[in-house]
Amino acid sequence: MDQDKAPSELGQAPRDAATPAVSAFYDRFPYPGDPLQDGPPPGYNWRWCVDSVVAAVRGGLPPRPGGTPRSWRILDAGCGTGVSTDYLCHLNPGADVVAVDISSGALDVATERLRRSGAAGHVHSLEVKQCSLLNLEETGRFDYINSVGVLHHLDRPELGLQALAQRLAPKGLLHLFLYADGGRWEIHRIQKALGFLQAGTSGEGLRLGRSLFNDLPANNRLRRHHENRWALDTAADSNFADMYLHPQETSYDLNRLFALVQQCGLHFCGFSNPAQWDPARLLQGELLERAQALPERQQWDLVETLDPDISHFEFFLSQEPITPRQWSKDEELLAAGGERNRCLWGWPSTALLGPDLEPLDIEPGDLALLQALEGAPEGMALGSLPLALDQQERLLRARRLIALRLLQPLVR
Ligand SMILES: C[S@@+](CC[C@H](N)C(=O)[O-])C[C@H]1O[C@@H](n2cnc3c(N)ncnc32)[C@H](O)[C@@H]1O
Repeated sequence: MDQDKAPSELGQAPRDAATPAVSAFYDRFPYPGDPLQDGPPPGYNWRWCVDSVVAAVRGGLPPRPGGTPRSWRILDAGCGTGVSTDYLCHLNPGADVVAVDISSGALDVATERLRRSGAAGHVHSLEVKQCSLLNLEETGRFDYINSVGVLHHLDRPELGLQALAQRLAPKGLLHLFLYADGGRWEIHRIQKALGFLQAGTSGEGLRLGRSLFNDLPANNRLRRHHENRWALDTAADSNFADMYLHPQETSYDLNRLFALVQQCGLHFCGFSNPAQWDPARLLQGELLERAQALPERQQWDLVETLDPDISHFEFFLSQEPITPRQWSKDEELLAAGGERNRCLWGWPSTALLGPDLEPLDIEPGDLALLQALEGAPEGMALGSLPLALDQQERLLRARRLIALRLLQPLVR
């Protein structure tokens, strides 16, 4: 651990102009304010399980010689109080995990969280250190970089993204979460009002911010929006401060987001909440058909236009463009091995919660295929699994299980 340094000693240049204010802010309000608990974190989040991410983005996983866990190198850049780091450890057995943040206050909480959850016992190595993501040259390269809710708090987010791009292994994936301004205008108004009122960014601001929502008339649109949409999320003081008192934040629309990605020489390889960007969520019949005839990027523009509640973007980036494997050729799918997605609840049964905790009812034959896969030697071809299923039914079930993300084929 390297947590005793003052922000001014956090490594050599380059530094972001916002770092002193932002690190002091998170020292006061370590984020997220999730309570500490003993034992593993609840449930799962597939975005922090690298096998699940790679399978979702690439359409398959590399084989595991000898059946040992894949030894991913993972960076949690701007780990805050360590909620994501904790999942990254528990969902990636055998990985090497590095978590960095500029705030010693946030890292104190992260260290305690990781100690109480026994996170280090699940991975090959775990390093938590006070360091800017701009200053990671000595950490080597990573197969997976998670940076959630961080870059939009830099004065120059593009320099932050370029620095992360340099830390990415050639076939690595980067997961980002950035604010979307479409669904944040009410928040921006409250921030602006608190600015007029000179509320500041510390305890006084918190007290005044909470009173603002009490004072506004019950039918005031900003108050109603806060109560309906954000009150629960901001129940913890540090979460309230993060939303309404932040000294440094930027937000994006799709055009500016894709310009940022392009400027950093990276490639977009999918949202990590793809259902949000599906026009079928908003349209039906003829209008849906028209929407689906548009190029994908325009479908997203349409969704952004029609859904003013979208308040963030979460997505994956890579160094090279990725075309996900489709498994349309029968012989290739039958010759492939596969793994069951670990991000499932209720296994083994036909009533499951899927990777997004969505209820899934699979058929007994689907369950039998997944169980045969688990019991088979590593990499055994789907076509050779000892099952009383002819090849056509095997293919049908395998494709359905791939679409549900329960089955992750192995790419040779
Ligand atoms: C909103 S919090 C997000 C924490 C965590 N990623 C999560 O979502 O649970 C933003 C975090 O980014 C950290 N941060 C901001 N700028 C940073 C930088 N240049 N390098 C590393 N961490 C930074 C802050 O200290 C803060 O803990």
